[in-house]
Amino acid sequence: MRITDTSDLWWKNAVVYCLDVETFMDWNSDGIGDLEGLAQRLDHLADLGITCLWLMPFYPTAGRDDGYDITDYYAVDPRLGTLGDLVEMIRTANDRGMRVIADLVVNHTSDQHPWFQSAKASKDSPYRDFYVWREDQPPDTSGQVVFPDAEEGIWTHSPETDAWYLHRFYAEQPDLDVTNPRVRDEIAKIMGFWLQLGLAGFRVDAVPFLLETAGVDEDSAAHFPDPHEYLRALRAFLGRRTGSGVLLGEVNLPFEQQAEFFGGQDGDELTMQFDFNTMQQMYLSLARCDAGPLAASLAARPEISPDSQWGTFVRNHDELTLDKLGDDERAEVFAAFGPEEEMQVYDRGLIRRLPPMLAGDPRRVRMVYSLLFSLPGTPVLFYGEEIGMGEDLSAGSRLSVRTPMQRTSGANGGFSDAAAEELTRPVVDGGFAPEFVNVADQRRDPDSLLSFMKLLIRRYRESPELGWGGFQLLEQPHAAVLAHLCTWDDGALVAVHNLGAEPLSVPLTVPGCGAGHRLEDLLTAGGAQLADDGSVELALEGYGYRWLRVVTEDSRRIL
Ligand code: NOJ
Ligand code: CA
Repeated sequence: MRITDTSDLWWKNAVVYCLDVETFMDWNSDGIGDLEGLAQRLDHLADLGITCLWLMPFYPTAGRDDGYDITDYYAVDPRLGTLGDLVEMIRTANDRGMRVIADLVVNHTSDQHPWFQSAKASKDSPYRDFYVWREDQPPDTSGQVVFPDAEEGIWTHSPETDAWYLHRFYAEQPDLDVTNPRVRDEIAKIMGFWLQLGLAGFRVDAVPFLLETAGVDEDSAAHFPDPHEYLRALRAFLGRRTGSGVLLGEVNLPFEQQAEFFGGQDGDELTMQFDFNTMQQMYLSLARCDAGPLAASLAARPEISPDSQWGTFVRNHDELTLDKLGDDERAEVFAAFGPEEEMQVYDRGLIRRLPPMLAGDPRRVRMVYSLLFSLPGTPVLFYGEEIGMGEDLSAGSRLSVRTPMQRTSGANGGFSDAAAEELTRPVVDGGFAPEFVNVADQRRDPDSLLSFMKLLIRRYRESPELGWGGFQLLEQPHAAVLAHLCTWDDGALVAVHNLGAEPLSVPLTVPGCGAGHRLEDLLTAGGAQLADDGSVELALEGYGYRWLRVVTEDSRRIL
């Protein structure tokens, strides 16, 4: 393995940043974030150390699901700018060392999309079989809906033709039928279009639902025998159009099934997948101040191909889903981090951001981000995390964390010059308002969370063993501590995190090391000498964290 490989399989140690153009920066003062505004703030992201932007849907939309209900796959929502603005922004991001990927939302269209408008009007429509229909009364499917606060089932009656259509999400989001080769052709064409404009790949929305054939008539399903074959075909297509493109898939399923969505050891399906399981176990660990659940999840990750990668994250743009925890475990996390009903949604998730959940405790917030960047995988940030933004519970449900980016302590948090009531969404108020949490102040403060995040990102990028390397949990006696080792080629890094409030001393042994090895702190000055048998004792503050590079006398790694 060579350091130069990291520029080839770039996603293995990228730093991904998810943002919604609509809430990031408003440049023409109409209260809505836009592509020009994003272009104006790319330098903030480059300065932070981001290497890949993930844009939430920026396409024309009917506005039912914050852009995830698309009415035209080949255009930009006019409120955000034009295709030209998008291309200029992508070029500028590329110049600053950042690739750009975007949401590919092709499990469903909006019900306002011309395909569905035509399909629902007549059984003879050329687009009728783009969607999934049934003629008979559907059974009770209330257990299968994704948004239980809004939907009672996954079939909705369409009076024009007296038939029901399938939708996994809102009724305004009819599912496309991927067993139809014409639909598959359209999906490829959509991908090809955006790749040609400069995208470096896609965050693929709702992958398991996209590939499922439930509800499709037997004849059509018979022509589409293996969904994974289709996923392989999409990946191959992407590879033909752009050699280094990625598919970052949303697959919130148990590990064994995620392994299949990577294409197993062949690694020829999704390039990356979010690690929803480890994210959820991490919150359980935080709630209990016990690293056990997190450690167990990391140990249970399936082997993946060296080209595949996990996307690690603390928070995304949706509810913080805890659906993979047991009922009692979820109740523990709710009690610790979101005890009020208004903080919870769908009986499975929380609608808060991390800092308010941790009562703003800066030690704990930093410890969690130190964990994020030192866990094996590629970290994915959600905009605003770098400065510790809070949420707006009154916005309700998933919108609570999608408030305007807080840039300054001035009017509208510097997001827009429009009148406050014209903003696309109100700015957060209270203890996490722009007055207290904003980019401009934190840029000038070496002790700010933003400065700390920059340090973590620099060290992460300089330590490819974290994204590329082998991973091993290190034994030590404290339940509150996670100690792990990442190794790659001749590089090795030990990370220790204390999830509890008490200072601790952590005895551990670094395998394969001895008296010739030292540990050098990477986040601060300091280090420790290993004994002959590789053992060492490491001091940790309450909620403390350390990253330590294993070095020898003649080591030439960056220190
Ligand atoms: C997953 C997205 O993350 C979510 O925001 C959206 O509502 C659904 N997919 C439907 O597209
Ligand atoms: Ca605007």
